[in-house]
Amino acid sequence: MTELLPWLPVGTRLTLRGLPEQRALGARLATELPSGTVLFLEGELGAGKTSLTQGLITALGFDGTVSSPTYALMQPYPLPEGQALHIDAYRVQHPAELYEMGLDELIEVSRLTIIEWGEALYEDYPGPILRLSHQVDSETRLLERLR
Ligand SMILES: Nc1ncnc2c1ncn2[C@@H]1O[C@H](COP(=O)(O)OP(=O)(O)OP(=O)(O)O)[C@@H](O)[C@H]1O
Ligand SMILES: [Mg+2]
Repeated sequence: MTELLPWLPVGTRLTLRGLPEQRALGARLATELPSGTVLFLEGELGAGKTSLTQGLITALGFDGTVSSPTYALMQPYPLPEGQALHIDAYRVQHPAELYEMGLDELIEVSRLTIIEWGEALYEDYPGPILRLSHQVDSETRLLERLR
């Protein structure tokens, strides 16, 4: 299997200066992540996880607003071919809650699954993990690839 995102090896850090750069990175990831990928986004509140997701899902061809699915937990977005699935597990107490909602099957039929706050699911899905954090000046974000 070819290595995912060869320009962003595990351990790499990138500084993202402003929302447009955050979304542009998402768009780049969208062109390179193969169908069926589960992408984990971790990082503190407001670190830019949903912003990156907006860039990704828009670049995959969804024509509409991508927002945080905190209350729905899971939000599917129709794409020209299939769907993207966005999960915000912030309020999930136990992974079983997501499995009862059909997580395995939903991942299987999705072009891409993006999971914010999905630390409890890492072992089951060996997809890439990107950690985002606020930079000291708060006008930029730091992204690190963890896996
Ligand atoms: N690279 C960046 N530089 C500066 N501001 C950014 C950057 N990326 C995102 N932001 C801003 O940070 C704010 C929070 O972003 P976002 O909602 O994506 O965070 P989040 O990690 O999803 O937060 P939560 O944990 O609450 O879901 C937004 O106002 C967004 O415009
Ligand atoms: Mg979010």
